[in-house]
Amino acid sequence: MELLSGELEVEKHVKYILSVEKNKDSFESVTMEHLRMNGAYWGLTTLDLLDKLEIVDQDEVISWVMQCQHESGGFAGNIDHDPHILYTLSAVQVLALFNKLDVLDIDRLSDYICGLQNEDGSFSGDIWGEVDTRFSYIAICCLSLLHRLDKINTEKAVEYIVSCQNLDGGFGCTPGGESHAGQIFCCVGALAITGSLYHIDKDLLGWWLCERQLVQSGGMNGRPEKLPDVCYSWWVLSSLILIDRVHWIDKAKLARFILGCQDKENGGISDRPDDAVDVFHTYFGVAGLSLLEYPGLKAIDPAYALPVDVINKIFFGRK
Ligand code: FPP
Ligand code: ZN
Repeated sequence: MELLSGELEVEKHVKYILSVEKNKDSFESVTMEHLRMNGAYWGLTTLDLLDKLEIVDQDEVISWVMQCQHESGGFAGNIDHDPHILYTLSAVQVLALFNKLDVLDIDRLSDYICGLQNEDGSFSGDIWGEVDTRFSYIAICCLSLLHRLDKINTEKAVEYIVSCQNLDGGFGCTPGGESHAGQIFCCVGALAITGSLYHIDKDLLGWWLCERQLVQSGGMNGRPEKLPDVCYSWWVLSSLILIDRVHWIDKAKLARFILGCQDKENGGISDRPDDAVDVFHTYFGVAGLSLLEYPGLKAIDPAYALPVDVINKIFFGRK
């Protein structure tokens, strides 16, 4: 790819991520307070992809993560908040980044996740019961990282995900729900982790996903008729890679779109050019560039959304 490594403002993005964490009164920090665990995963994974994770005081982060664990075994978005499966995956991912999954009581945590599986194989996000294929992915991803996939009924979990597949090849959040690239990532990721990708019509889904790339900007949208958005670079690209159809898009044009969404002065990446930056889009921009093999970035695993070296340590014990 004719992209120069200097075009990604690595140092500025590192500074931006550290500033959001330090400046607790900033607008972004305040709006992130209840989902700080997700923010920690986005920010720390970005730093790791940029090979800058050593800047962080890992003992401080791990101690805070563990204070967010509820007696049920699930994690909350912050200390003294309620647990939810959304924050539980982020907590596990943050610990995985530091190779510290051994601080967890794996049985208690996996019991919490198993307890959220419903009769039809679907998963609820918490005790209040909302069902969504996002939660199926999270449960499967988490249990796989903990080597405890055998504790749920994976056959039924897969059956439920397959029941959310639409005639256009995509997936929605529940059966009959409109196809959406974010939900497609969740369903394809969960099917990849469970070795069930044979349920997908790869050409049909690949076609729908490729149509997300907008001719003019090169950016991806999440559904027909929507504006391009940097985070969909991740949701669409990771899915295309998992079904082996990534060669159907214009990768260089997508990389240009992401690079064009950087704040070149103060760091950070926004959803589209000239909008305000945030940690979510900074992460998915950098993660998208990693999937595009942008020079100087660590490789990211498209199913687990963690750096490949982290995944290798978990599954193959490799340093
Ligand atoms: C779009 O969100 C994205 C989704 C619906 C997928 C979310 C996936 C998870 C929470 C699973 C964990 C993810 C990772 C990477 C480990 P949006 O609310 O921005 O959608 P909109 O663009 O329609 O507003
Ligand atoms: Zn977005």
